[in-house]
Amino acid sequence: MTKEATFLSTLQNNNIQSGTYTWSSPSNIALVKYWGKKENQIPENASISFTLDACKTITSLGFNRKEDDNQFSFDVIFEGKKNSDFKPKIETFFKRIEAYLPFLKDYHFTIETQNTFPHSSGIASSASGMSALALCLMSIEKQMNPDITPEYFNQKASFLARLGSGSACRSIEGDLIVWGNHEHIEGSSNLFAIKYPYAVHDNFKNYQDTILLVDKGEKQVSSTVGHNLMHNHPFAKQRFDQASENMTKLMSVFKTGDLQEFIDIVESEALTLHAMMMTSMPYFILMKPNTLKIINAIWAFRKQSSLHISFTLDAGANVHVLYPEAEKAKCIEFIKNELVAYCQNGHYICDTIGFGAKPN
Ligand code: PMV
Repeated sequence: MTKEATFLSTLQNNNIQSGTYTWSSPSNIALVKYWGKKENQIPENASISFTLDACKTITSLGFNRKEDDNQFSFDVIFEGKKNSDFKPKIETFFKRIEAYLPFLKDYHFTIETQNTFPHSSGIASSASGMSALALCLMSIEKQMNPDITPEYFNQKASFLARLGSGSACRSIEGDLIVWGNHEHIEGSSNLFAIKYPYAVHDNFKNYQDTILLVDKGEKQVSSTVGHNLMHNHPFAKQRFDQASENMTKLMSVFKTGDLQEFIDIVESEALTLHAMMMTSMPYFILMKPNTLKIINAIWAFRKQSSLHISFTLDAGANVHVLYPEAEKAKCIEFIKNELVAYCQNGHYICDTIGFGAKPN
């Protein structure tokens, strides 16, 4: 089993003065949800996600050697403007990963970042943002030690991204990604995500995800707070066991291509995630009235059309509408005619499964 120590520095040559690396890294949407964690961003249960394609963050990391003052030094430029809102999160991230990237205090960094999806769309940018930054940092490590293998590069990028935001570790590669130890998934780890290692039925190739932007406001409860509320949650144990069983069930779905079973598991996971929020103490609700209207409209349309359209949710009010590529035309027509009316300012994003981050 891979241990944390595997990711301690491989540093060989640290005479580099300056440089810039750029990566674009996608968002991802979990099918079996990660909700609840132990110390050091270790998940309570394994999760599995589709990597997205269009929703991504593009980050350039400039670095210049600075005097040895034993401090982190960086500026953040978000969508062309200097922005200090992200600084505390990045400072925490640097502290967590310093042991694994000892060059962090040797440079002043300029982090220039932008998203392909609108700011304050309610789409979490932490997965794409933290993974893009982790990859830029790995590019510096690779320059210092050109011998590291592509496999190590990706694993350590995922390992570092996890320490920034748990679900970010699932954004390095695509198209189907597992994070967290699972007894039936070889090579799965709590420390980093891996590509789903078994064959997947063609029904799931190019699966579609249309993201309906129901509420673009700031979430009232952050996912950090939500994860913490799973400590001493009355249903925690049952939930973690159920997630593990759902992973096993999805494994057979991916083999057989059973779309109905896929829908049952994925929708139940989404509603269970929100049920955990509603039964935490303090309790909270992130869905909005239009979230429920969309869910009901999807159920009615599915019954009447026999199409395999379904939904999932992340920790917010937006709805991810999932459907197979073969049913794309009819599902898009339904979405435009009946669901877009529930979106804030009619905004939605058509996305599809993607294959992971890319250097620019
Ligand atoms: O990565 P975090 O700490 O923002 O948690 C994400 C949690 C969910 O999006 C709700 C579920 C998941 O597995 O992505």
